[in-house]
Amino acid sequence: MKTLAVMSRKGGAGKTTVAVNLTLAARAMGVRAVLADADPLRSAHEVLKGREEAPSLLFETSASKLFALTEACRRSGVELLIIDTPAAPEADVAEAVKVADLCLAVARPTYLDLAAAVMSVAVIQRLGREGQIVLNQCPPARAGVEPPSVLKAFEALRFANLPVAAIAMRSRMIYQTAFAQGRSVLEIDAEGSAAREVRALFGQVWKRMSGERPAPMRTANDDLGAGLRLRPA
Ligand SMILES: Nc1ncnc2c1ncn2[C@@H]1O[C@H](COP(=O)(O)OP(=O)(O)O)[C@@H](O)[C@H]1O
Ligand SMILES: [Mg+2]
Repeated sequence: MKTLAVMSRKGGAGKTTVAVNLTLAARAMGVRAVLADADPLRSAHEVLKGREEAPSLLFETSASKLFALTEACRRSGVELLIIDTPAAPEADVAEAVKVADLCLAVARPTYLDLAAAVMSVAVIQRLGREGQIVLNQCPPARAGVEPPSVLKAFEALRFANLPVAAIAMRSRMIYQTAFAQGRSVLEIDAEGSAAREVRALFGQVWKRMSGERPAPMRTANDDLGAGLRLRPA
């Protein structure tokens, strides 16, 4: 079993959005994935509670119960446990980092989010875990040109030699529509740009954690690269 912790000290960065969409993308691709909601605000629960499979999809938990939950998931044949964490002080999130094979630090391309992501990476590295920053809510490109905020964010992270996921997520209304319906963006529009960026991010994360490519539920358009891809210089 692999464990992925999704974190950010900033509320609203997109932890729950990333955690819920990656969990549902993983399941759609045939990976036995479950989501641990370790945020006392219970946003993931709020989004997913109406789903028929909710009892086997989502586990409400807390920092102190995470280790036991991880072991229970491992014993019951779960392949991927994704943990949605609170925007809380380090001590609360550290328990998720400790049990994670990979930590995703979610950040909008803003100064304060990036500063928070840098601190998250420091925590991840101090605890000896693997981490990556994922940019979320990136504004759209105009005529193929990325907005300055995105370019600056990527440059700053690269300059600081911080690990950045190659797939970034754009700001798209469909992420909010999907939440309001208790669904993932893949379930709303499997061919859409949001679905493609989520599948691409999941594929990259899963490959990094497991060494395997997910069994494809890819669509013909997946290779067109609708998502924002950050390429190393
Ligand atoms: N890529 C995105 N595009 C549009 N809206 C987004 C995106 N990511 C997150 N949001 C919205 O921003 C708000 C905060 O996101 P959420 O995932 O709850 O953040 P966090 O869990 O970090 O507090 C929610 O209303 C969510 O729908
Ligand atoms: Mg949240």
